Amino acid sequence: MCGIVGYIGNRVASEVILKGLQRLEYRGYDSAGIAVINDDIKIVKVKGKVNMLVSLADDHNVSGHMGIGHTRWATHGEPNDVNAHPHTGATGKFALVHNGIIENYDVLRQDLEQKGHMFTGETDTEVLAHLIEEIHEMSDHDFFHSVQQALLQVEGTYGIAVIHKDNPDRIIVARKGSPLLIGVGENEHFIASDASPIIEYTKKVVYLEDGEMAVITSDGYEVSTLKDVLLTKEVHELAMSLEQIEKGGFPHFMLKEIFEQSDTIADCMRGRLMVHENRIQLGGLDGVVEKLANARRVIIAACGTSWHAGLVGEYLFEYLAHMPVEVEYASEFRYRQQLIDERDVMIVISQSGETADTLAALREAKKRGAMVLGICNVVGSTIARETDAGVYTHAGPEIGVASTKAFTAQVTILTMMAMLMGRETNVISDDYMRKLVKELRSVPAKIEEILKDTSDIEAIARLFTYAPNFLYLGRSYNFPVALEGALKLKEISYIHAEGYPAAEMKHGPIALIDEHMPVVVIAATDHTNDKMISNIEEVRARKGRLIAISSDGQSGVARHAEFNITIPEVHDCMTPLLTAVPLQLLSYYIAVNRKCDVDQPRNLAKSVTVE
Ligand code: F6R
Repeated sequence: MCGIVGYIGNRVASEVILKGLQRLEYRGYDSAGIAVINDDIKIVKVKGKVNMLVSLADDHNVSGHMGIGHTRWATHGEPNDVNAHPHTGATGKFALVHNGIIENYDVLRQDLEQKGHMFTGETDTEVLAHLIEEIHEMSDHDFFHSVQQALLQVEGTYGIAVIHKDNPDRIIVARKGSPLLIGVGENEHFIASDASPIIEYTKKVVYLEDGEMAVITSDGYEVSTLKDVLLTKEVHELAMSLEQIEKGGFPHFMLKEIFEQSDTIADCMRGRLMVHENRIQLGGLDGVVEKLANARRVIIAACGTSWHAGLVGEYLFEYLAHMPVEVEYASEFRYRQQLIDERDVMIVISQSGETADTLAALREAKKRGAMVLGICNVVGSTIARETDAGVYTHAGPEIGVASTKAFTAQVTILTMMAMLMGRETNVISDDYMRKLVKELRSVPAKIEEILKDTSDIEAIARLFTYAPNFLYLGRSYNFPVALEGALKLKEISYIHAEGYPAAEMKHGPIALIDEHMPVVVIAATDHTNDKMISNIEEVRARKGRLIAISSDGQSGVARHAEFNITIPEVHDCMTPLLTAVPLQLLSYYIAVNRKCDVDQPRNLAKSVTVE
């Protein structure tokens, strides 16, 4: 969702904040703003991208050594200059940036209006700015306690940073449901909603937890609860590097991240896929392996692409470990009749580790006694911290809004977990394990092979750049990949696309097929080969434009399809790790041809921290 950056120290605050907002822009990009204190509070904000804010800030004098900034993904109020953050109250003495949703903003607003407050926009955040001001003006609360008292009246979620003209030596921050961290420097401190804006200045961070507030000055920080209990916080060392969050010569982050996948999968397996010992070692699951293997059922909860990875996980756990698995949209899980208890294990999957719906499912499952395991990419994220145990994907920062390398890393972890479970449940013999280990180990090189020459995919993308619809079909392990391929195309090129289990085509979608309909068939699994060839024929008979993804050994598919993208052969259960890659590239090249903003597609945000 939205991104927050703040700075206090000796540097020019606006430089740190604007650069930070550019790094955070993948979180939201419909408007942006900055407030700095230099005698008075100076605010510049604008509808549009951070670049527009940068040029506008150049025209205004936003000098000063402390300030806050925000990049917005609209929830309440359309994206425009007025609704952009920072927001102020009537006197303009406070400025506030906010991620999350103030659910009772309407009641609070009416109450404030009765007290004479006039509002300029429609956002819930503006209400909070007025509320802080009202408390400060009408009571003897200092800056910190005015913010605290306001937050005690608020229902909903927030990550906030507030500055006050009369207290130019401090920024007050607070968190409930929306991530916020403090970057610790030498005589300077930073705040941010994730680590990317501060990594070039410091690697030392303190994560705020829900219900915590902090006073941040250039010399230090003091964290307490909303009830004034002082806390001693652990300082964490960030593992990410600046290089990881830059484009490294690629035109887009998405392309860079697609091309990183042979490395990220290798990183994901490092120290975990023990080839010589013929076993899987997942340190994050030490002590819980037996409980997982004996679970009455495993419930995987996630959203979007991570949910698709979860669907692949279902096939893997069932096939390799004979374990019953259900995959739930995290957003639906919490509204279902809750039949989960301590006999079950939930696995939550999240790249960002901050997705509000996934976090809510996790908390619901824990409340009911289930053990919850996490598969997360962002180290130290809320989901990673709240799960009982878990495994990091170690894919490095994913900046492109459309998820690519996180998906294949999640599937790699799920494959290793399923193999581990297969040994635990005695489904996988020594010999079979050896074969699986060897196959999984071969995946990074095979991805490199796919990426060596993308000209076929680029040519297909050129042909279908202006197709209004796409159909994606897959079976078994590759049915979720069909869903993922369709999602990638929708997200970044705005072409309507649907993914289906191939056999379901006959039950409806076949009516859509004519000579204008591109149909992508993911046919790379051997055990469904013949059935996929039948589906291909059904599409051809209706003049559909057939693009097949098949493996080296499937000459049958290649012969029947109009276009064929070949991937190296790999064990059926690992094909999603390969088939996902050409589909990511296809959607990328189509989106580029259509001149879409690949890394920041309209209406989307990287990390969805509202429900
Ligand atoms: C799609 C995409 C989203 C995310 C979803 C969950 O490309 O990125 O669908 O997969 O918002 O996000 P995480 O994995 O951060 O929980």
